[in-house]
Formats: sequence, structure tokens, C-alpha cells
Amino acid sequence: MTRVLKIGGSILTDKSRELTARPEEITRVAKEIASHPDDVVLVHGAGSFGHFPAKKYDLPHEFNRAGLRVTHNCVARLCEKVVEALSLAGVECLPVHPLSCLLLRDGRIDSFFMEPIKEMLKNGIMPVLHGDVAMDAAGKAAIVSGDHLIAYLGKALQAEVVAVGSNVDGVLFSGRPLSRITRKEFSVVQSAIGGSASADVTGGMRGKLLELLDLADLGIDSVIFNAGIEGNIARALKGECVGTRIGRAN
Ligand code: IPE
Repeated sequence: MTRVLKIGGSILTDKSRELTARPEEITRVAKEIASHPDDVVLVHGAGSFGHFPAKKYDLPHEFNRAGLRVTHNCVARLCEKVVEALSLAGVECLPVHPLSCLLLRDGRIDSFFMEPIKEMLKNGIMPVLHGDVAMDAAGKAAIVSGDHLIAYLGKALQAEVVAVGSNVDGVLFSGRPLSRITRKEFSVVQSAIGGSASADVTGGMRGKLLELLDLADLGIDSVIFNAGIEGNIARALKGECVGTRIGRAN
């Protein structure tokens, strides 16, 4: 049973301060993942390690070679911290940098060499991916968000659990999390669903939902939940709906 889990950059970093990790949260998240580590592909957000440099170099709107290098190096540094925390928690894992194994076309994943990820899973190693910069066959370069990666991986691996942890309790409507949302409800509530409160170049909650609604159209449900609440990650990995379920309209 393959499970794909995203932990948002808002949990692992202080998104309002450039290159600021939250080491205690990284450790806590790693421990929760370590309680259910089998067949998990982890994707983490870039947080202040990605959105700040991307904004500074005006990515993805401008093509900037130095900006790509700096932004990638920053998110790779955060990935290193996550991998280290996971290994300290007893999880064998390896970093997989999207920049080096996928190609975008018009901002969407066009090809993705996933064999190493599949082999890692077969051999008891957790692949750790992250939001990254990536080359784009149509537009030179762009950003691939963790949410886009999660939707792609969920489909490609036919995942049984797709869980996206952010710093809110799910998809909020009038301040309360919806228990379930489909494309039908989305068209009604979308004006109330915002982007992100901090520097964010990849679309916040709205961007997340659009990716996951595409996945739901293919028959794969997912959950958006609050990964800042202790215990939720472990429950989400067990397949519990700890936030808002994104499903297909009947
Ligand atoms: C963004 O990744 C990637 C870059 C800015 C390079 P995400 O969109 O997955 O990151 P978070 O979860 O919003 O921090």
C-alpha cells in the first residue's frame, strides 16, 4: 500500500523569515513519520528556503540562471535537514531532487524518471522529494510545487493514501474546515478559499486544491489536514480523514 505524504513548508520552516527552519518541528514530524514508515513517499514544501529566493529572482516569471541555482541549493539544504531528522528517528531514506529527474512543459510535469523512487520503495528506503525549480521544455524553467508532485506521484503510484499536511485544519469555509469537497462544491466556495498568508509563489490552498481535484477526477481521494497538530501525521498515514477529504463528485 503506497502512501504519499506532503508536509508543507509552513510546518518545517518559518515562512515569514528567509531560510529559517523550525528544527523542533522537523524532529517532531520525523518521529511521527517514523511511527508508520512503510511504503511512504515523502514530499516536503520549500517554505522560506524556496519562496524567498524564488521571489527575489522573480521566478518563475523571469529566467534567471543564478536564481535557479540559489533557489535549488536552498531547498536542497532544507531537504538535507529533513533527511537527517528522519534518519535520527530511525527511517532509512534518501533525497530525490525533482530538478534532476523531471522535466516540465508549460509548468506541468511532462516526464519524470520514477524508477529510482520505485526501487527505493521496493528496498525499504523512503524517497524524500521537495518543491523545487525545474527545467521547462516550453518555457526554459519554472517551479514545481510539492502539491503538484503529490498529485503526480499519487496517480503514478496509484497511492492508497494521499495526505497533504499544511498549517490549517483543512479547506476552511467561514472559518470551519469542510469535511469533504468535490469539484462541484469547489465552484461554489472557491472565492472564499485564499492563497497563502506569507511569501508564496505556488498558490497556497487554492493551488493545492486544484491539484488534488485533478487527482480526484481520476478516482484517487486525498486529505488536506493540519500537520501542526501532534498525532495528525500518524493518523493521516493510517488513512484516517483528519481534515478535509477531496473526492470525486457523484
Ligand atoms: C515551492 O514548493 C518550491 C519553491 C518555491 C522552489 P511548495 O509550494 O511545495 O512549498 P510550500 O509547501 O508552499 O512551502
